[in-house]
Amino acid sequence: MKVLGISGSPRESLTTDPLVQKVLAGVECEKEFVSLKGMHISPCIACLGCVEDNVCVLEDDMADLRSKIVEADAYVIGAPNFYRLLNGLTHCFLERWYQFRHREGKAVAGKLGVAVGTGGGETQPPADNIRTFFEYNQIECIGTVTAQGPAACFSCGYGETCRSGAIHMFFGPGTKITPEITPDIMKQPEQLEKAEDLGHKLSERLKQYSMAT
Ligand SMILES: Cc1cc2nc3c(=O)[nH]c(=O)nc-3n(C[C@H](O)[C@H](O)[C@H](O)COP(=O)(O)O)c2cc1C
Repeated sequence: MKVLGISGSPRESLTTDPLVQKVLAGVECEKEFVSLKGMHISPCIACLGCVEDNVCVLEDDMADLRSKIVEADAYVIGAPNFYRLLNGLTHCFLERWYQFRHREGKAVAGKLGVAVGTGGGETQPPADNIRTFFEYNQIECIGTVTAQGPAACFSCGYGETCRSGAIHMFFGPGTKITPEITPDIMKQPEQLEKAEDLGHKLSERLKQYSMAT
């Protein structure tokens, strides 16, 4: 049994990566973490080139990911909130799972999933998007976990004075950026614990499944 963890954040090791990794930490079988950061994954172009053999014809980084998706028994997929949606990189990645949907392709249906969402303010939208995606693909979503991460405004250099940024929006004008007000996943022990618990739960379900087959 193998669990594939995917983080769709373009930022390394901030919020989405560690939260997906925390779910994997609770997993007691083989597991692999992949970050989509820096990968070139185009959107699905609906060319139907994958209809005959369930293999996408586009040539980019999705080709290597395809075999990992097919070989895994469960998925932990995480994405940050960009404009109340999951971010574009994760969306492109998920669109390309269209290749598994044709001619009763069974590569992903019947497997298990955990949906992970992060956001500067609202953390739930990407987790809900991923849950919906799982359901659409007949992947059973056994749970979701979310955490708050630092919006780029905390580190862009203009956050304290910029009137359209997150600091003004969340705390009002004149606010100084300090470590106390800067969101950090390490300050959210309940979310980290929930993530690890979901990893355990995923392992248990996989164990039951392997004993039954
Ligand atoms: C283009 C862009 C749009 C964003 N839109 C939202 C938003 O609508 N709501 C929100 O809560 N956070 C928003 N954020 C903040 C990110 O969700 C937040 O920084 C999150 O921690 C990013 O995940 P990471 O820390 O794993 O990179 C946005 C960030 C970017 C770069």
